[in-house]
Amino acid sequence: MDLSIIGSGYVGLVTGACFADVGHNVICVDNDPSKVESLQAGKVPIYEPGLEEVINRNVAAKRLRFTGSIKDGVDNSQVVFIAVPTPQAADGHVDLSFIEKVAREIAGVLSDYRVIVDKSTVPVKTGEKVAESIKRYNKHGAEFDVVSNPEFLREGCAVADLMKPDRIVIGAQSERAIDLMKKIYEPFMSPILVTDINSAELIKHAANSFLALKISYINAVSAICEASGADVEKVADGIGMDRRIGRNFLNAGIGYGGSCFPKDIAAFIKISEQLGVPFTLLKEVQRINASQKDRFLTAVRDALWVLREKKIAVWGLTFKPDTDDIRSSVAIDLVADMLKEGAHVTVYDPKGMEKAREVKEIAGATFAASALEAVEGAEALIVATEWSEFAAVDLETVKESMATPMVFDGRNLFDPQTMATLGFQYHSIGRHRVAPR
Ligand code: UGA
Repeated sequence: MDLSIIGSGYVGLVTGACFADVGHNVICVDNDPSKVESLQAGKVPIYEPGLEEVINRNVAAKRLRFTGSIKDGVDNSQVVFIAVPTPQAADGHVDLSFIEKVAREIAGVLSDYRVIVDKSTVPVKTGEKVAESIKRYNKHGAEFDVVSNPEFLREGCAVADLMKPDRIVIGAQSERAIDLMKKIYEPFMSPILVTDINSAELIKHAANSFLALKISYINAVSAICEASGADVEKVADGIGMDRRIGRNFLNAGIGYGGSCFPKDIAAFIKISEQLGVPFTLLKEVQRINASQKDRFLTAVRDALWVLREKKIAVWGLTFKPDTDDIRSSVAIDLVADMLKEGAHVTVYDPKGMEKAREVKEIAGATFAASALEAVEGAEALIVATEWSEFAAVDLETVKESMATPMVFDGRNLFDPQTMATLGFQYHSIGRHRVAPR
């Protein structure tokens, strides 16, 4: 089929590349000329495992191309996907101005029946607004249908998530649109759930909120484990073996971050308030998430007494491994907090350094060239992101390089017993403390 995707960010680019990979002809549209130019020159602006290969393969096969023109995309496709950003406004509500603008622009060039699909994360009832807007600016009175088709991919494994989704949600009200959408997704051989548009939109916010709730739940349990001497990993295993609960997203740590959970939870709270049914449980999810970072910093302060002038190494700046994304990363917040208290912080991340150098809150940090360089002379090491590169570092060398062998593991990457045997004073999240040998 002939498809176009408006917006070449994480979702748009990965979706376009994967649609092309299963045989569709795809046009990716973006209003940033420098992004379009670099994509046309074969340069992928984000780090996402496997994405560059998929893009190159499909550009070479002439199934994927990039343009700055919405008219080009709309004229040459049966289905037009909208995948533009829906950022958070200062009061927590979702800024839908990009979606509104794209809807107007599509309407302006619409000359024949098209299905307009919203893939961006939006509040419930946005589809109705998009339809109204297209109707208003539809100069030629062309027929169209609006569909909601939320995306569930995770950064770091976005290509795999898109190629093998747990489910595909199609929110639509016309059989004609549903048939076309089913045809697009046929090659993915995954379960398809057809709903009304409002339910599809709600599924996205409800799913992300539930996952964040799972993380905050286990993080709250981790505090109880620390206070009582239990082990949060064992507790997570024990409850996760119940198939009604499941073990996924029960990894305790310094809290969730990224461009989705913090924004989507705030938005869902706002939407529920606007609808007159405040979802107060989600406020507690937010509170627990913030307190997890604070509890961690308190443990660092308790051990080091004062942070001023202490040399602290931080491994990991991205909000999760296998991405270069540092948006709303708890790791960045931690570094900023410690710098404010006068610590000398040296940071290292396998992929996030370039973007982190631009963050003014951590401009006072030293940027190391490797994980080992970061720990040289350090009085404490903080593990803020669980990159596999860190798990593979020789810990004996780490210990020798450090001034005092103290490790605060915010992602439970290492085994407490092993760390104690190596002679580290080791603090992790919700697990037993073992005295160093
Ligand atoms: C999340 C959802 O998982 C995707 O399904 C959704 O499509 C996406 O948001 C989106 O709305 O676009 P993403 O933010 O890329 O995906 O990454 P996750 O793997 O969900 O991780 C989010 C945060 O939760 C990370 O900071 C991670 O470290 C943290 N996390 C995750 C935990 O602290 N514990 C866990 O057990 C799992």
